[in-house]
Amino acid sequence: MTKRKKGTPDVASRAETLREQIRRHEHAYYVLDMPEITDAEFDALFLELRRIEESRPELVTADSPTQRVGGEASEQFAKVRHRSPMLSLQNAFDESEIRAFDKRVRAAVGDEVVYCAELKIDGLAISCTYTKGRLTRAATRGDGTVGEDVTANIKTIRSIPLTVTPAKGLPEVFEVRGEVYFPIAAFEKLNREMEKAGKARYVNPRNTAAGSVRQIDPGVTASRDLQTFMYTLDPAGAARSQWDVLGALAGMGFRVNKHRRRLKSIEEVIEYHAEWQKKRHTLEHEIDGVVIKADRFDQQLELGFVARSPRWAMAFKYAPEEAETDVEAIECYVGRTGVLTPVAHVKPVVVGGVTVRNITMHNEAQVNEKGVYVGARVVIHRAGDVIPEIVSVKEPKEGWRMPSKCPVCGGEVVREEPYIAHRCINPFCGAQRLELLRHFASRGALNIEGLGYATLNQVIEKGWVKDPSDLYRLKKEQVVQLEGFADKSAQNLVSRLADSKHPPLGRFLYALGIPQVGEATAEMLAAEFGSIESLRAATEEDLVRVEGVGPNMAHEVHAYFQGHGGELVGRVLDVGVVPQAAESVGDGPLKGKTFVFTGTLETMGRPDAETLVRKLGGKAAGSVSSKTDYVVAGPGAGSKLEKAQRLKLKILDEQEFLTLVGG
Ligand code: IVH
Repeated sequence: MTKRKKGTPDVASRAETLREQIRRHEHAYYVLDMPEITDAEFDALFLELRRIEESRPELVTADSPTQRVGGEASEQFAKVRHRSPMLSLQNAFDESEIRAFDKRVRAAVGDEVVYCAELKIDGLAISCTYTKGRLTRAATRGDGTVGEDVTANIKTIRSIPLTVTPAKGLPEVFEVRGEVYFPIAAFEKLNREMEKAGKARYVNPRNTAAGSVRQIDPGVTASRDLQTFMYTLDPAGAARSQWDVLGALAGMGFRVNKHRRRLKSIEEVIEYHAEWQKKRHTLEHEIDGVVIKADRFDQQLELGFVARSPRWAMAFKYAPEEAETDVEAIECYVGRTGVLTPVAHVKPVVVGGVTVRNITMHNEAQVNEKGVYVGARVVIHRAGDVIPEIVSVKEPKEGWRMPSKCPVCGGEVVREEPYIAHRCINPFCGAQRLELLRHFASRGALNIEGLGYATLNQVIEKGWVKDPSDLYRLKKEQVVQLEGFADKSAQNLVSRLADSKHPPLGRFLYALGIPQVGEATAEMLAAEFGSIESLRAATEEDLVRVEGVGPNMAHEVHAYFQGHGGELVGRVLDVGVVPQAAESVGDGPLKGKTFVFTGTLETMGRPDAETLVRKLGGKAAGSVSSKTDYVVAGPGAGSKLEKAQRLKLKILDEQEFLTLVGG
């Protein structure tokens, strides 16, 4: 008799038990929103399973909950053909259009019609293929016929079951379709993290969900807390109606929206639409309308299709939200480089679920182009549903003027041609001082944690810090006196400051806050001049020769080092800050090529994209010129894109850029 390996069957069955328990709890938590155990208890189960699988890799199964983030990162997504096309919906924007739809339906199938009404989730459509009960493929909608294979990424979404017990009547292979979305709270959390890291905010949950699903690294998708609602089963098995399908999907463990309703008349549909228009902001996700579908499949068959849309369904959309309010004041904020930004303070008003109080305008010209003034009645909306903007003014008037004195220090405000912006030219202005210090310590600059506005305000008030060099003179005995600090945290801040004394030259230049010099330009200057001394000694002519530096910028940089900027740099070097020479740009496939990024990148942040270009031997510039080889434009691209078009430069979208660097 062969002796069985001690403990083997127990471990294997324990692993299976754990897998079942984890699946059940994932369903309770992510699908039903009804957790049965605490997060810590769940984590303990997960950890135990992961430990078993690590020590006994032969026990790992492809559908184990630990394998959600196990997929291979792919450079490009394979194209996949949907089993049947993913259709789109016809839109109705008002009552008359939805009534006309109802008339057409009744004319075709008679009066015995019931509508299945659902919320129209503002996300992106996906289709998941199950083969013998296992998730074998997940794809984006693409053009409706061919989508992209995003299986590894979709597997990381916990409300998508990796295995299911197929509902009655389903064949071996079937597809489940629905929407992936970014819950608003998770989106705001992500944006808070972006802000903390000194990175640009994402514009809206929908685009960010789409970007998250198309990540090259599934680990990034997994970190995004995406959610799903599924609504289509293809083929439908034993289901005879859309209502049955939603029930069958829920029965198989998919997340199905609970606000679905069966409605007998178009009046009820109109009420449902109005009800959710009012309540849409109580939801944890965005909706852009409601969808109604003739419920019975036999009736759907009779109604058929027109072009790429079913005749049996309609999206009854909501108009983008606008609100009217009054401008109570226009104040100017002073930034790090002294630029004044006008902000309209309006009577608080709710737009798209968010209370708007302040609306930033860019400059005096913009205020007057729109005709905004104190006391104006204005219509506002949230651009891309996020940033509040004035759409129109009831009785527009020109004539608003920037103050001639800085609202913070009383210093002189000037507009230096050819710039549109007005600037406070007092280098000792308190607002500029605070903003410069904050910028100096920020993530993209010297990355000194613990130097937020609250701390900086205190050290300025106490008279200890006037410019960045003073930060390095702070003693632990001083820091400990500040609000929010104790012995250990004070010591930590002083140590972090000491640790920041050898920054790479590019970061140091960026940290100085030289007007017009962003991260990319700072890197270019560092690569070109190699040391702070040679940059200080550069003439305007030397500077103009640098990629991405035009005559205006060359003038600014030169003037900076000749004026108080040069003195500041001297003081910072005197306290022992030693910028490290930039690594020279190596050979690589992008050698000799200059890139400019504009707009939002969805798969990576702009600094990461710029670093990638540099790693591959290329240059990343901050502004577009005839010397630019490629402009990579994402959503929200503005004047840089226009300039690139004028100069007939090669313009890439993010996907083309990724293909280029992948290749
Ligand atoms: S049904 C043939 N139901 O809206 C019908 N679509 O404009 C296929 N959407 O691509 C779609 N919520 O991404 C349906 N409850 C819902 C929906 C929904 C959101 C999206 C979906 C589709 C788009 C059509």
